[in-house]
Amino acid sequence: MFDLSGRVILITGASRGIGRAVALEVARAGSDVVLHHRANAARCEQLRGEIAKLGAEARIVSGDVANPEDIGRFVRTAGDWKGRLDGLVTAAGLFRGDATPAVGPSDFSVVLRTDLEGTFRTVQASLPYLRKSVRPAVVTVSSVLGAHAASGGVAYQAAKAGVEQATRALALELAPRIRVNAVAPGYIRTDMNREGRADPRFAAAVANATPLGRWGEPDDVAPVVRYLLSLEADWVTGLVLGVDGGVPLR
Ligand SMILES: NC(=O)c1ccc[n+]([C@@H]2O[C@H](COP(=O)([O-])OP(=O)(O)OC[C@H]3O[C@@H](n4cnc5c(N)ncnc54)[C@H](OP(=O)(O)O)[C@@H]3O)[C@@H](O)[C@H]2O)c1
Repeated sequence: MFDLSGRVILITGASRGIGRAVALEVARAGSDVVLHHRANAARCEQLRGEIAKLGAEARIVSGDVANPEDIGRFVRTAGDWKGRLDGLVTAAGLFRGDATPAVGPSDFSVVLRTDLEGTFRTVQASLPYLRKSVRPAVVTVSSVLGAHAASGGVAYQAAKAGVEQATRALALELAPRIRVNAVAPGYIRTDMNREGRADPRFAAAVANATPLGRWGEPDDVAPVVRYLLSLEADWVTGLVLGVDGGVPLR
């Protein structure tokens, strides 16, 4: 089930958190992997070693997804490696949860450029390589906050709402050749919320707000991404799939 043997998949933000878990998951499913990071080569080297032990190959690329030139460069390196991309997962992202009065002049735009435009430009730059694949698939990464409001972090929530609609628009435009779906994770224990989780009241409030009673782990998200990349999802496109412990049910 959900076999990815012989595939080549580019994962942005693979150095840590959700991207890292996805990289291991797809390597376990038989895929070779291009590991992208911004400034964390050591973590990616370590991950490449873990992937080699699984019998898969990995290549490391880097660049800032808020910079379209960087994206063009690292996607070319990724695509030229095996001459195609069978899958793309856009997990690179940035969270800012500031209350509105504290959002400075460039704070809003950096979140939009990284989380929303960065996602779009990465898909756009990957198209020539995805078109060389027999059954290409893209998985973008939204958030439960893309459709369910929280207090603070307006730019992040707007960016993720944009990622969801961009996913649907791309799915329509790129059909029938390329499938495009999104995952929308709930609260996942990663570096992104390490500071917040240090406050036991916040950590407990998140678990209490989650019907399934706990924070998510990157490994809760990775198998869902694997499914969306696989041939079992061959007739699934334009879907935003929540992986959130039921947070939106409340
Ligand atoms: N954690 C959650 O609760 C949660 C919930 C919903 C959605 N998400 C989404 O899931 C995705 C992954 O989040 P995570 O929690 O795994 O985050 P994380 O542990 O903080 O990792 C972020 C990853 O993104 C990369 N990155 C950040 N800014 C970048 C930039 N400007 N250019 C290129 N790469 C950049 C980082 O690279 P370096 O290591 O090189 O810095 C790292 O690989 C994000 O899109 C996030 O919004 C997370």
